[in-house]
Amino acid sequence: ANVIKVTHEEDFHKVAAHIVASLVQTSPRAVLGLATGGTPVGLYRELIQIHKQGLVSFAKVKSYNLDEYAGLPTEHPASYRTFMNEHLFNHIDINLENTHVPDGQATDLDAECRLYDEMLSEAVIDLQVLGIGHNGHIGFNEPDDSLNPATHVVTLLEQTREANSRYFGSVDDVPAQAITMGVGSIMKARQILLLVRGADKAEIIHRAVTGPITTQCPASLLQLHSNVTVLLDAEAGRLFQ
Ligand code: F6R
Repeated sequence: ANVIKVTHEEDFHKVAAHIVASLVQTSPRAVLGLATGGTPVGLYRELIQIHKQGLVSFAKVKSYNLDEYAGLPTEHPASYRTFMNEHLFNHIDINLENTHVPDGQATDLDAECRLYDEMLSEAVIDLQVLGIGHNGHIGFNEPDDSLNPATHVVTLLEQTREANSRYFGSVDDVPAQAITMGVGSIMKARQILLLVRGADKAEIIHRAVTGPITTQCPASLLQLHSNVTVLLDAEAGRLFQ
């Protein structure tokens, strides 16, 4: 992977936004794979600013999000659809019809997964934005003996529910299940931008990039992809030279 360590914290989001905005400037019809969580919030804030300065248009961009909680109403404040609308889509000129987040409210979740895969098979993701979980998960692909390449329903690990309880009243309010894009779809993206911040991610990102390729650390599979940029802040990059 191409590992970039950003020395000044305030540059982290700008560097990330520059990578995404340059792609959209040169390919206005770019297909973006997007992530939620704390890490990309600053990237989205910078993209909104670049858009408001008139430097980039998302009018023809399509987007596919990695994941969504199961059983949570779409308009719930902690749903990933709400997250994307509030942190990005409502503030740029993207056509909401061109934005895709798995429907966690679908009555038949397996059918929703197949539908999402059909859409993904018709659109090649040009750039996939990723974060990493403390256990090495990407999307909601949790460490396991085997990984599912396709979009599927997952049972979230207790650790993941605890990490995400900050968006809910308590850990008991975090849904037990989610829909996630599989590692196969993630690996098919032309380019991957993995964003990692904070001291608590230093060990897992070092293991993912330099350790063995194993399903017990789903992010380690990215070692097999030929166009990955890992963007680290100083703390997350502590174990890299
Ligand atoms: C979010 C997602 C997750 C997060 C990861 C890191 O759509 O798929 O894999 O990227 O849990 O989350 P943060 O950025 O909150 O530390």
